[in-house]
Amino acid sequence: MRLNSHPSGRHFLQIPGPTNVPDRVLRAMDHPTIDHRGPEFNALAKKILRSVRQVFQTKQPVIIYPASGTGAWEAALVNTLSPGDQVLMWETGHFASLWKKMADKLGIKSEFMGGDWRKPADPAAIEKRLKEDTGHAIKAVCIVHNETSTGVVSDISAVRRAIDAAKHPALLLVDTISSLGSIDYRHDAWGVDVTVAGSQKGLMLPPGLSFNAVSEKAVAASKSSKMIKAFWGWDEMLASNANGWFPYTPATNLLYGLNEACDMLLEEGLGAVFARHTRHAEATRAAVTGWGLEILCSDPKAYSGSLTAIVMPEGHDADAFRKVALENFNLSLGQGLTKVAGKVFRIGHLGDFNDLMLMGTLSGVEMALGLAKVPHKTGGAQAALTYLRDTAPGARRD
Ligand SMILES: Cc1ncc(COP(=O)(O)O)c(C=O)c1O
Repeated sequence: MRLNSHPSGRHFLQIPGPTNVPDRVLRAMDHPTIDHRGPEFNALAKKILRSVRQVFQTKQPVIIYPASGTGAWEAALVNTLSPGDQVLMWETGHFASLWKKMADKLGIKSEFMGGDWRKPADPAAIEKRLKEDTGHAIKAVCIVHNETSTGVVSDISAVRRAIDAAKHPALLLVDTISSLGSIDYRHDAWGVDVTVAGSQKGLMLPPGLSFNAVSEKAVAASKSSKMIKAFWGWDEMLASNANGWFPYTPATNLLYGLNEACDMLLEEGLGAVFARHTRHAEATRAAVTGWGLEILCSDPKAYSGSLTAIVMPEGHDADAFRKVALENFNLSLGQGLTKVAGKVFRIGHLGDFNDLMLMGTLSGVEMALGLAKVPHKTGGAQAALTYLRDTAPGARRD
């Protein structure tokens, strides 16, 4: 019999999204659905459309779709491009590969650079490639900010500088699905044209909403874009949103949740939210190092604040190990995807999360490593405990 066939207590959902939905957000959504053409909804929508901009660190419009992140990827491409346009994409991992596959399906000519799933996008290589494109055939550069399959963060402001240094007019499209609300991200300051995001990670909501933050340049590009679009078209969304309405039935109860989630992030302060994620990521890496295991990301400057991908020792299957963690400790860990399937597991440490939730997670991982007979040193969880204790707000620093 499975030990945990009737688990009590909370499930530990430590995949890198969907993340744990906080009680405040759950309660906010537990509300009768209202008329989306009535005054109560109008007030809610006006507030959300304002506050969500602060989370993207933008003064530009943020479009909200009742869709998963994949929909917002498509919206970014079909609103800014025309069939046959060239785009430059960087292969950071599984999600960058899926975005490229989508571009190809849409009839966009995508060029993939990179391909090392352990490293971030290289701004110098992007600058060089754009300088070669003297005819400006490349219409957009597409980067995944935090590659969820690997835990590698690319430097978006450096990519912006690379585009500017090449004096190239390409748009900059960025996927922040697993970084928004977890890792510092600035749509305006970094000159991003379209930011793609989703509800189910740093925004602490269930899956079902996704976003496009759009620059003036992106909106201008949308006026001449010739890709076929209807549902994803920004024009009707922007026109309706300007007065606090949506052109079709919005996901009303998820919007109640979004309102609460934005309040929570802004009450804590974005700087504090990012610092909390950085600290938990640091503690997680202290545990991994203590176990003697290897972090997939090979560039410490690119370590992710929202998840850590860990390489399994040779001859051990990551999915068999994850099964042990789930069945014994009611702990869900992220699986390795495509190229790294079975070879890595991922710990999500993002969203509504605190020190003791992290310690529960890391203790579960350490116990499961032992049960699954994965070669490791004990004491990783202790290393994380020590780090958290020494960096706690009340720790004496003398
Ligand atoms: C970085 C990234 N991009 C895109 C997606 C796809 O989003 P969705 O599964 O919500 O469609 C995900 C999902 O995890 C992701 O992590």
